[in-house]
Amino acid sequence: MIKKIEMQICLGSSCFSRGNRDVVMYIRDYLKKNHLDDRIIFKGARCMSLCSNGPNLRINEKIIEGVTLSAIEGILEKELGNIK
Ligand code: FES
Repeated sequence: MIKKIEMQICLGSSCFSRGNRDVVMYIRDYLKKNHLDDRIIFKGARCMSLCSNGPNLRINEKIIEGVTLSAIEGILEKELGNIK
């Protein structure tokens, strides 16, 4: 059985004010377009206590900081490119 990947985006107020709403929409769209929505569990998370470097995203145990709209495509390609 293929292991599912869990991806959590911080929905705390600091990450929210840094624009993670647009990032959430981008990720949802990306997962759908690449038929990954059944392989990846994508959900919101509470503050990860790394606010000053947000928006923050966790993929399994790895935390990725500075997840802006301009950076997200490259991050997803790097992190998920091998399972597409
Ligand atoms: S609000 Fe996102 S890490 Fe604190």
